[in-house]
Amino acid sequence: MITNTELEYKGNLYPSKIVSYTHDVDSVYFYTDNSVILKLTVLRDSLIRFRYTTKGYFSNDFSYAIDESHSHGYNHLKVTEEEDYYQVTTNKVICKIQKADLRSFIYDLKGNVLLEDELGFHWEECYEFGGNIVKMSKTSREGECFYGLGDKATQMNLKGKRVENFATDQYAYQKDQDPLYKVVPFYIGLHNKQAYGIFFDNTFRTFFDFCQERRNVTSFWSDGGEMNYYFFYGPSMNDVVTSYTDLTGKPELPPLWALGYHQCKWSYYPESNVKEVAAKFRELQIPCDAIYLDIDYMEGFRCFTWNKEYFPDPKRMVSELSADGFKTIVIIDPGIKIDKEYWVYKEALANDYFCKRADGPYMKGKVWPGECNFPDYTNPEVREWWAGLFKELISDIGVKGVWNDMNEPAVMEVPNKTFPNDVRHNYDGNPCSHRKAHNIYGTQMARATYHGVKRFAYPKRPFIITRSAYSGAQRYTSSWTGDNVATWEHLWIANIQVQRMSISGMGFTGSDIGGFAEQPTGELYARWIQLGVFHPFCRTHSSGDHGNQEPWAFDEEVIDITRKFVNLRYQLLPYLYTMFWQYIEEGTPMLKPLVYFDQEDIQTHYRNDEFIFGNQILVCPILEPNALGRRMYIPRGEWYNYWTNCLVKGGKEMWVDTKFDEIPLFVKAGAIIPKYPVQQYVGELEFDELTLDVYYKEGKEKSVVYEDAQDGYDYKKGRFSFVTFQMTGKEKELNIQVHKEGKFDTNYSKYKINFIGLPFEVKTIEIDNVEITFDANELKENQYLIVPKDFNVLHIVG
Ligand code: GLC
Repeated sequence: MITNTELEYKGNLYPSKIVSYTHDVDSVYFYTDNSVILKLTVLRDSLIRFRYTTKGYFSNDFSYAIDESHSHGYNHLKVTEEEDYYQVTTNKVICKIQKADLRSFIYDLKGNVLLEDELGFHWEECYEFGGNIVKMSKTSREGECFYGLGDKATQMNLKGKRVENFATDQYAYQKDQDPLYKVVPFYIGLHNKQAYGIFFDNTFRTFFDFCQERRNVTSFWSDGGEMNYYFFYGPSMNDVVTSYTDLTGKPELPPLWALGYHQCKWSYYPESNVKEVAAKFRELQIPCDAIYLDIDYMEGFRCFTWNKEYFPDPKRMVSELSADGFKTIVIIDPGIKIDKEYWVYKEALANDYFCKRADGPYMKGKVWPGECNFPDYTNPEVREWWAGLFKELISDIGVKGVWNDMNEPAVMEVPNKTFPNDVRHNYDGNPCSHRKAHNIYGTQMARATYHGVKRFAYPKRPFIITRSAYSGAQRYTSSWTGDNVATWEHLWIANIQVQRMSISGMGFTGSDIGGFAEQPTGELYARWIQLGVFHPFCRTHSSGDHGNQEPWAFDEEVIDITRKFVNLRYQLLPYLYTMFWQYIEEGTPMLKPLVYFDQEDIQTHYRNDEFIFGNQILVCPILEPNALGRRMYIPRGEWYNYWTNCLVKGGKEMWVDTKFDEIPLFVKAGAIIPKYPVQQYVGELEFDELTLDVYYKEGKEKSVVYEDAQDGYDYKKGRFSFVTFQMTGKEKELNIQVHKEGKFDTNYSKYKINFIGLPFEVKTIEIDNVEITFDANELKENQYLIVPKDFNVLHIVG
């Protein structure tokens, strides 16, 4: 690691003056005297790629992160030459490249500085490995803030932090510990209320320094590979993140059940134990959709085998669980036990699919099964083979999802916890060492798993979860935050990690609710589930060596709190599904940190705890024991306290009272929140009404609801329902305009409309300009109205 001030560091080399340039369609090449080339590519008016080489030519251009189907195309691109610089102008930005030293400066069209090179691109020869340590430094301005970077367990705003990206099995990590399991070399800068983004697409170990080493400098570097980064212009954080997510890809919709509650432990076995746990959920009426089998279901931890003593007939068990609404999810790790009698090992060996050391022998390492070899998932042929291995699990046995773990890759009993650097990888035909492939290994495993599960689950949708991931992994898989601990500090960490993952393109994420290591108190578990139900992925998991972590491991009060919050999640499923739809369609993060929600309000820039769930629900967890309320920041606008329906004006920090069975929850005034009835699992009930909680507001607000068949791919053929509700509230009037898109007709025929905060007594109601009769007393008493769903305008007058 470089610790001395880079400026003083004598080993650095810099580009010399530009001697020529060429312009080729969307790319401009600048050549320097000392063989440096900068290739500047305009992908979109607001998205520019900077790629550098010091060799005088570029190597094959290959990235696992970039989604082939990302949108590109610009409206305007002009290159001009001035005395001291070249200027590249698009419809959104101006980029100046200085002739003397190749430094770049980016401005908006009004001439405001967006991002300036400090030293810019420079490098150092890497004596240990050969090649270059590639470096970039940018000038940072007063008040600039930084966000993103995936699963970092540190405050939201990264200003003053130095972080490292190297996928690591980090059992019981602590606050500020780094590196962790995932690698997302993407950050958002915010200055003068304008946002931009940087994605440093380099899979080697990378580092970012956000004004830690030097107060006014941000830098990023890597001990190998290319200086290759993308610049995203905002000006809103939403522009930056949606554009990053478009570039690195969006997932398909998960089956709706995957948004239900999941229960996991290391491990549920034998079969009778799995059944007991499942039955208890139904008995206690706590909704649950998925149950997990951790490594002990296997025969000696051999992937794709079953321990027949514990699970004599997996197919029968899985189908019995399924009859009760439980989907079975199994773990699959990358380590393949070295065992000449084991069919998976034999196949891989026969086909030469394992990773090798530089001098030829297979890479060997200890994981759960003992000595293992490891498939090279960066080889397309290996991925295809791996995908095929899921046939029995998915098609025959009926498993519905696969959990990929230990794929950093983790190796036990070695100091570096992973493969040696010299291990060779195919890297899709770009052979390289483990230094380059390490950070992408987990993603390629999850990718192969995804293709297998998808193939055999068809026409249903697959569900995959991974521990390690690199940018772009969201196309294939959901993720969790790894081996956390049952402490209050970890509840704080989980809240930040999931928000951060959300604005780093990987929103389908959650933490091990209650903590993986150690035993939570009932209070901690309750506070954790109260937050966890607002995370896109919602699963309790624990290491199991300290006791139980099912809701009934705690007292009645905690059981009731768990039920209350899991029920709420199931009621909010259409709302959650809608935000997922916006994520896969637009790349919009499902959780929005306050700064993301309102970047213009500088009060939000250093907030950590509060976030917006979807677009209209403000959530703030309780992160301390014995707290019956807390101070929190309410963003600008008007908000209804979900529990009391009292209206508060935001833009201020305030104390919010809660009980033990509540956390601060607020709904944006004007919101229309869709709700399903509580079901014990997705699809349990048929119902004829969609509940709409209508939060009155004087003024306008738009709400949307996405629905489809909840599984399968018909939605891709337009069989979905996307309903927009436009509310307009006046002093004595409320108008709801409905607009429907899509070819899917929902099963229910009515809306049950709950009015919240209506400031007048209803005198008349018109549906599509026809006055309807209604029981005024009844409405006054209960504040709800049931109407057939097929209307265009509901008009209420007081
Ligand atoms: C790892 C995982 C954990 C799992 C355990 C056993 O520690 O992170 O979730 O339960 O391995 O498979």
